Amino acid sequence: MNTPHNPTGKVFTREELEEITSILKDFPDCMVLADEVYDFLTYDGLEHTRFATIGDNWNRTVTVYSGGKKFNATGWKVGWAIGHQKLVRLGGILNNTSFYCQNTPGQVAMAQALRHAEQHELESDGSSTFLNTAKANFTEVRDYLTQELKDMPLPWEPLSVESGYFLMADITKCRDLIGKKFLESHDYEDDKNGTPAPHHPLYMPGTK
Ligand SMILES: Cc1ncc(COP(=O)(O)O)c(C=O)c1O
Repeated sequence: MNTPHNPTGKVFTREELEEITSILKDFPDCMVLADEVYDFLTYDGLEHTRFATIGDNWNRTVTVYSGGKKFNATGWKVGWAIGHQKLVRLGGILNNTSFYCQNTPGQVAMAQALRHAEQHELESDGSSTFLNTAKANFTEVRDYLTQELKDMPLPWEPLSVESGYFLMADITKCRDLIGKKFLESHDYEDDKNGTPAPHHPLYMPGTK
């Protein structure tokens, strides 16, 4: 379960998460990995709802977060998982090599940064927190990019982005502008396979 979602930028509403939760009632052995790395980056006043907080989802959910995403340092690859002890403990056993392969200074730096992320001291004039400033900056960039795409003389339609780092555009109406050769070389254009919005690393041949 991924909310806010990459690459569409969708923030699942509480009602939608409740609906998914009600489906899960029929599957008592199903566990959920909730990827909520963009929890801090919702736009336009939207609120992120944690899947684990709905009903008794806590007992079946491990939620993962990314320090790299929170602090705009995606290459760092340091994150954390939160969940019921019985689940997190097992994850630790299975992934034990991940812990000691992480660089220690990076882990310490993330722990320090987390302590300060919602305090006012990180910003030079003290008027905002790091996370609020990040949200304002990303909102500005999203608005700029959306407007630029709309203003360009091409019939593509940027999709509305509610959260996260990505902005997708619907290029359906650009089809006639694309040379046949290029259409043929992209297997996501194959209607039979029905993948309308490629995010190409996820849809390479062999990974579908
Ligand atoms: C939804 C989502 N989850 C997880 C990750 C991975 O995060 P990290 O770079 O910290 O490993 C990404 C990175 O793009 C992402 O978009």
